[in-house]
Amino acid sequence: MRVPIVAANWKMHKTVSEAEAYLKRLVELVGEKPPVELVVFPSFTAIPMAGRLLSGTPIAWGAQNAHPEHQGAFTGEVSVAQVADLGARFLICGHSERRHLFGESDAFVGAKVRAALGHGLVPILCVGETLDERRAGRAWAVVERQLAAALAGVALADGRNLVIAYEPVWAIGTGVPARPEDAQAMAGRIRAWLQQAFGKVAEGIRIQYGGSVKPGNAREFLALPDIDGALVGGASLDPDEFWAIARAA
Ligand code: 13P
Repeated sequence: MRVPIVAANWKMHKTVSEAEAYLKRLVELVGEKPPVELVVFPSFTAIPMAGRLLSGTPIAWGAQNAHPEHQGAFTGEVSVAQVADLGARFLICGHSERRHLFGESDAFVGAKVRAALGHGLVPILCVGETLDERRAGRAWAVVERQLAAALAGVALADGRNLVIAYEPVWAIGTGVPARPEDAQAMAGRIRAWLQQAFGKVAEGIRIQYGGSVKPGNAREFLALPDIDGALVGGASLDPDEFWAIARAA
């Protein structure tokens, strides 16, 4: 039985005080035993506060990004080790904004995934095709390449240690989500690929859908057989909207 996982990727939003007000409200809404796993991804600046405020609550938190090297001359970067040191449990790896706006390669994303696992963090590995790639009939080829590159040489003892987020690039921040049948078709192929790669352990790997998830459409995605949660951007910036999405699971 996979416990659904619903995550809030705030991207580059919220000051520390805005983040604090949000998290206080979310803690109030969520109560002690939510039926789903909830994760928030604040900016680095708000992470220490989030760690303090969320400790002892059922809400987990993580970092939106980190550098795979342990330490070194990488001005402006924050390492996976530094994020783990703060008590983060999750790390987003390979988000399309990192791939497309910051030029992250498949190999670099793979290094991050391995660094995250090495530090006991759960990577949320994002995969997804652009609109041109989908139109050219290459959606699966792109996603398969991203999976293979990021997970090469990865050994998993427990499927709960890895989450895959299928986020078609054209659905991110556009208000135009994938059709549920297309999201399910892709998630099913991802699941089959994971089974080939990891065997029985793959049954425990959660697959999220991301891209214009809102309270009004969350249920359609979360009800799909191979989708075990959502990675939410814009609609996660308001705690009430985010909780409405989580409850749909
Ligand atoms: P939106 O929910 O704003 O489309 O963003 C999705 C996303 O990129 C989550 O990581």
